Amino acid sequence: MSRIAVCPGSFDPVTLGHLDIITRASSLFDQVIVLVSVNMMKSNYSFSLEERKNMVRSVTTALPNIVVDSYDGLLADYVKQVGAIAIVKGLRAVSDFEYEFQMALANKKLYDGAETVFLTTAAENMYLSSSVVKQIANFGGDISHFVPELILEDIKKRLVKEK
Ligand code: PNS
Repeated sequence: MSRIAVCPGSFDPVTLGHLDIITRASSLFDQVIVLVSVNMMKSNYSFSLEERKNMVRSVTTALPNIVVDSYDGLLADYVKQVGAIAIVKGLRAVSDFEYEFQMALANKKLYDGAETVFLTTAAENMYLSSSVVKQIANFGGDISHFVPELILEDIKKRLVKEK
């Protein structure tokens, strides 16, 4: 039986930190579904669900066991629907923990058939987040060390337009 994991997130936009977690998850499971989802606490996404999905897809083509999908419903419902055994999240710092712990418990309550698995982020990505990338780009800073090169220009175009 194939062991499927779901790696959910906003990916607004996908960063090298996300890509590192996705890559490492891909070596632990038979298939990893990167699920571009909606976080109700984030109402002002810079990229649409479809755009975020396309960006993640374009930077993961080298990984054979990655599937990219989007979903605007409950994560637990999706996980159950696809028969995944794990939800994979990256943890950067202690500050991430409380929120992630709360989500893991809520998801377990909603669907008992999958475990949340936390991967510790690589040390060089500790500070990295989509919002840090957006702030730097908005002020005209260099984001080339933070996002995959393939989508660098698309990100810059959008975020400069936002100013
Ligand atoms: O990258 P983010 O914004 O931290 O990811 C959070 C996300 C999108 C994974 C989370 O908000 C989520 O799971 N959204 C789907 C809706 C849902 O199931 N919400 C309840 C989670 S307990």
